[in-house]
Parts: sequence; C-alpha cells; structure tokens
Amino acid sequence: MRIGVLCSGGDAPGMNPALRSIVRTACTLGDDVYGIKHGWEGILDEEFYTNDDGSFVMGLRSVSGLSKIGGTILHSSRSKRFRTPEGVENAAKILKKHKFDALIPIGGNGTLSGAVELGKVWDGQIIGLPGTIDNDLYGSDFTIGFATAVDSAVDCVDKLRDTAGSHDLMFFVEVMGRHCGDIALSTAIASGAEIACIPEAEEPPERLVKRLKKIKEAGKTSVIAIVAEGDESGGAVAMQQILKEAGNPFDSRAVVLGHVLRGGSPVAADRILASELGNFAVSAILHGETGKMAGKISNELVLTPLEDCVSKHRKVDAEQLRLLHIVAS
Ligand code: F6P
Repeated sequence: MRIGVLCSGGDAPGMNPALRSIVRTACTLGDDVYGIKHGWEGILDEEFYTNDDGSFVMGLRSVSGLSKIGGTILHSSRSKRFRTPEGVENAAKILKKHKFDALIPIGGNGTLSGAVELGKVWDGQIIGLPGTIDNDLYGSDFTIGFATAVDSAVDCVDKLRDTAGSHDLMFFVEVMGRHCGDIALSTAIASGAEIACIPEAEEPPERLVKRLKKIKEAGKTSVIAIVAEGDESGGAVAMQQILKEAGNPFDSRAVVLGHVLRGGSPVAADRILASELGNFAVSAILHGETGKMAGKISNELVLTPLEDCVSKHRKVDAEQLRLLHIVAS
C-alpha cells in the first residue's frame, strides 16, 4: 500500500513521534509511506519528503531520533489554495496520479475539515490524527501536543510567580487556545493560579474584581490569572485593562505566551499518545477503514467519523473548573 502522511495547521509537539510510529508500523507490515511536505499545500505542489540518497519512500532510518524532536520535519502550513473546491479537486487528481491508496493527515480542526472535503472527491482511504496543542477535537480525550503545551505554560507561570511574589503583583498570562479553554484550565490547576478565564465559562468583570478583593482580604499578595486566547475578554492584555478599569485591587501586568507553547521537545505523554495513534492509524487503514480520526477515549483506542470530530464539541471538564476554585482558595 502507498500511504501519504502530512502535517497541517499549527504544529504540535508530538507530530514527529507520530510520523515515526506511522513509518515504522508501515515498514514492519511491508507498506510504503511517503511524507508530504507543508501540509495540504505540499500535495498541490507535489512536494515530497526526500531521503538523503534521493529516494522517496520513508524507511526505518528516515525517522531515527524523532521521538524527542519538536515541530514537524515534514513542515506545516495553512493552505488557502486547498480550501477552495478547485484546490480539493486538484489535490485528489494529484493523489491519484501518484497512486496513493491512503492518507494520514495530522492536525487540528482545520486540517481534519480539509480531510472531510477531500474524502468527498477522492476514493483513497483517509485516517486523521489529532495533532494540535488546543485539545479541542471531539473523538479523543487528549490531542497530540496538549500535554507538552501545558507543561511549557506551567514552567513559564512558575517563573512569573517568583516576580509576582517579589513585587506583590498580579499577572494575566495568556495561553493559546483559539476556541477552547483546556490549556488555560489545566495550566491554572497545575501552576496554582488563582483564576482561569476561558471561553466556556464567562465571568463578568465586576464579579472577578469582587473575587480579587476577597483574595486580597484573605491575605494573598500576588495573583496569577490564566487567560485563554479565545476568552471573550479578547485575551490577557484586554483583560488586564478591563479589570483595571473595574477596580482591580492589584497592580498588574500582562504576558502573552503565544507560540512558545507550540515548541519544544514533546513530553512523554505526547510521545506515547503519538506512537499509539500512529500505529493505530496504519492498522485501521489496513483493516479498510476510512473517513475516521484515530483517538483515545477512556484509555481505549477508537475511530470516530471525521465529520463528528470537526462539527461536535468536547465539553470543558466541569469537574476541573470546580477543582480549580477549591485548590486556588
Ligand atoms: O490551532 C493551534 C493554534 O496554536 C491556536 O491555539 C492558535 O490560535 C493558532 O494555532 C495560531 O495560529 P498561527 O500560528 O497561524 O497564528
């Protein structure tokens, strides 16, 4: 079988270990993997991964040492061309021309939405992998990259806490997560932050200020608020200003962690998840599956229709929100 692999959209730590697992599983089973560079854009440009000897089929040694490498050796992009009906038709023609039997796109909501469109016009098999730090995909408890992003954010917040403590300050720390507060909530719990501002749980500024006054009265001299990029306030900088005007009793600063969270060596949890899902995706293809995403729910490897993964929403864990309020008191 000829299987193509691509990474598209925002890179996520763990994409490389996923590729390593896909290639090594396919090699073991006697199937050929071709790396497609720069995501969907790379199909349209017919840009394939090339080994040092000029060959294209990825072998066991093509993926040596990839477990600990962040980013993606295949490179990624957000393709505008592929997002048009002509782009999708063209991609299908190119995949046919190169005799691909199957494709494994690794990415987030945009990538998998592209896979749904491609599946309507291409008769090859498609099994997607959830590769995004945002943890916003239905069909998997965790996405590849999320654990590393949270770890990186916690590391930064630990450092900021030192300065917050020394100067009696409040920090508004913005973490990525376009429509999803998972990174913010997990970071808040793990770093001991007092507040998490997430799109899934709105809190009016007046109520937050009331809470901050209580925190001050309770004797806390420094505060950390983790703000999800997608929070209705517009992010950490906006939130700092809004609360200042609403009477925040703490002197405050805003820090945007942004793309820092997408980088770095994947933590063990992401390496393991990526290895499991990469292996599972190849075996799903060999079992004739298509139009699905490989994920892990309640410790079981599962396949979920791609349409569901991109249209349904995972609910934020209400238990985690409750936990944050208790442990931050
Ligand atoms: O989807 C992953 C993500 O990192 C989001 O959290 C963020 O909103 C977005 O990508 C940023 O994308 P870009 O790198 O294109 O600005």
